[in-house]
Amino acid sequence: MKTNSKAEPTVFVIFGGTGDLAWRKLAPALYNLFLDGWLPEHFSIIGTGRTKLNDDEFREKLAEGINKFSRNGKIKKEQWDVFSKNVYYQVSDLNNAKTYQELDSRIQAYQEDWKQNANVIHYLAVSPNFFPIIAENVAKNGLEAYAERTRIVIEKPFGHDLESAKALNKLLQGLFDERQIYRIDHYLGKETVQNIMAFRFANAILEPLWNRNFIEHVQISVTEQLGVEDRGGYYDGSGAMRDMVQNHILQLLCLIAMEAPINFDADEVRNRRVDVLRAMRRFTGEEIQNSAVRGQYGHGWIEGKEVAGYRHEPEVAPDSNTETFAAVKFFVDSWRWQGVPFYVRTGKHLSQSASVITIQFKSVPHCVFPQEAIENWQQNRLIISIQPEMSIRLQVQAKRPGLEMVLNPVDMVFDYSGTYEGKPPEAYETLLLDTMLGDQTLFMRGDQVEAAWELIMPILHAWENKKSLSFPNYTAGSWGPENAEALIARDGFHWFTLPLNGKH
Ligand code: BG6
Repeated sequence: MKTNSKAEPTVFVIFGGTGDLAWRKLAPALYNLFLDGWLPEHFSIIGTGRTKLNDDEFREKLAEGINKFSRNGKIKKEQWDVFSKNVYYQVSDLNNAKTYQELDSRIQAYQEDWKQNANVIHYLAVSPNFFPIIAENVAKNGLEAYAERTRIVIEKPFGHDLESAKALNKLLQGLFDERQIYRIDHYLGKETVQNIMAFRFANAILEPLWNRNFIEHVQISVTEQLGVEDRGGYYDGSGAMRDMVQNHILQLLCLIAMEAPINFDADEVRNRRVDVLRAMRRFTGEEIQNSAVRGQYGHGWIEGKEVAGYRHEPEVAPDSNTETFAAVKFFVDSWRWQGVPFYVRTGKHLSQSASVITIQFKSVPHCVFPQEAIENWQQNRLIISIQPEMSIRLQVQAKRPGLEMVLNPVDMVFDYSGTYEGKPPEAYETLLLDTMLGDQTLFMRGDQVEAAWELIMPILHAWENKKSLSFPNYTAGSWGPENAEALIARDGFHWFTLPLNGKH
């Protein structure tokens, strides 16, 4: 865990330098790290790509991305001039060994210039079919000269299923030490997600309640108003389970369910997260039908705008069986969580964009109030809003002011925007800095990725083997398919409305 450390001299190579991720996320994040004084005195950023650009053209492209997406607004010339003279571009063919030799010579030249060894970070912001060739070449060229200081950052998707994830792990672990491999799940870098650990493990009052004796059930909703946009080609081979549940949602679940680590060492924290995945109940046969629901959006309206159904999106098969919505009921079979359902749901083109975790506590053991007093009464809830609202609310009951005894739910709120000034760092700022500092706490270890795949494979198999006859089964702009309601209603619960500007 970083406190106030500064990175050592760094060469940051972006494979896929002209791509969308570099433009939207990586460039703004690196620039903001520079503005906030986190980058070392000596650093170089080398973008690589097939497009023929010179250094200045590449810098211009990044500047455009920063102006558009940075939380700090538009660049200021003076600062940009200092930053951008450390930014370079190399036209490259990823299949050609010469690309990597050229990169290597540049890296050596920077080090000679700085008279210091540098950490060399290779960021693979490219399609997964290039992961092996880049990894092999990076290992071949760079490792001899600067083995200890080479790191490789892998964007998601990490594998398409358990088998391919294992194969990729095997390949990477054959070339690098696990300490050099950074598997990104950007949810772990979100400020509100990092705060789950702080909130749970820096406060004494929660732990006694944080178990099956007091918690009735947990809900994790990661809903999006956006559809698949221009990513139909990728998404149609993926779907909501692979795109969101296997990674982001299971990571959130691990943070809620994990035991306290002994300290904040990366491996200690990651061990505790893996324990959760290992304890999660496996699905077999019939259960899948009762525990998992899939959906696909049809034509509808989002905030007054008409949107096409999924099967009419560009690069999507007209008879696609890919789910754009998934809801699953999980169990963690441990002493702490036995019998507590964790309901998760995610989907595209839903009514609202919000990522929220709600922990519903059990009812009071005995109600002492007359019926008239408790008409609005509700079980205690802890609501952790990850985005767009950033807050933690504890819902308790209180007496409504007046001459009668009437109870009403009220919120005790920690709201980021009311407590802190300015916008918190973006997830990618945190994660990129961590790669420079060599801190793997917020990255997925090989065994964790495999455990997550292993858990969801039976659901994926069941869905792939049986085409859904009801697709499309929810209207764009709705809350998803009806059987997602049934999934939770069968247990006597309902999906909670998500916080919207502080209201429920
Ligand atoms: C990505 C998925 O990993 O996460 C996208 O591939 C999804 O489909 C995105 O939209 C959501 O991230 P965020 O940070 O916008 O919640």
